[in-house]
Amino acid sequence: MKYELSPSILAADFNRLGEQIKKVEEAGTRWLHFDVMDGIFVPSISFGMPVLASLKKETSLFMDVHLMITDPGRYVDTFMNNGADMLTVHAEACTHLDRTIAQIKEAGCRAGVALNPATPVSVLEHVLDTVDMVLIMTVNPGFGGQKYIPYCTRKVAVLRNEFDRRGLDTDIQVDGGITTDTLPEVLKAGANIFVAGSAVFKGDITKNAKELLELMEHE
Ligand code: DX5
Ligand code: ZN
Repeated sequence: MKYELSPSILAADFNRLGEQIKKVEEAGTRWLHFDVMDGIFVPSISFGMPVLASLKKETSLFMDVHLMITDPGRYVDTFMNNGADMLTVHAEACTHLDRTIAQIKEAGCRAGVALNPATPVSVLEHVLDTVDMVLIMTVNPGFGGQKYIPYCTRKVAVLRNEFDRRGLDTDIQVDGGITTDTLPEVLKAGANIFVAGSAVFKGDITKNAKELLELMEHE
């Protein structure tokens, strides 16, 4: 299993974005988490295509794009053309989840599906064989800096068991409240891609990223 830290730039200082991304890259991360919010699916509005396109020109990090937007199928091609390597859509935001996953794959992108904390893993029963990653949200999406919701650990374990049962080593990503305190428990439950916003960008970025990376290496 490969383990990745995907720093969420939502918690970065946008006045120094390029500089801060360089720091996480130099600390040894390979992924970058890009949170898109539309003010409808989630209460807040973040950033979109022009920012992604501009970052893509400056970094070779794997662009992990988390779409917290209603009916994300409308924007698959646009995000792909602006530099997304992985597009993750919320199951709750897609009327036709199977169609949207197919659309992402046809566009040549890796396809992820996200679940809000209260959505059971079982809604993905029929798509688990086709997705490249499942994102188990460990806070209610919409804002950085929230507290990890403990019952989500169990969801990760259930999903990892199900992937094992099917003989799949599909990525499980967790996002929300991931810190040096919460990471070990969710790693043990079977997650292998860790999004962290505040825990990376608040304070000493290089030190923060290295500490989280080190916890993952102990596995
Ligand atoms: C929340 C976003 C997260 C957020 C995580 O809606 O999807 O990616 O940036 O922030 P932290 O790590 O601060 O909880
Ligand atoms: Zn996210």
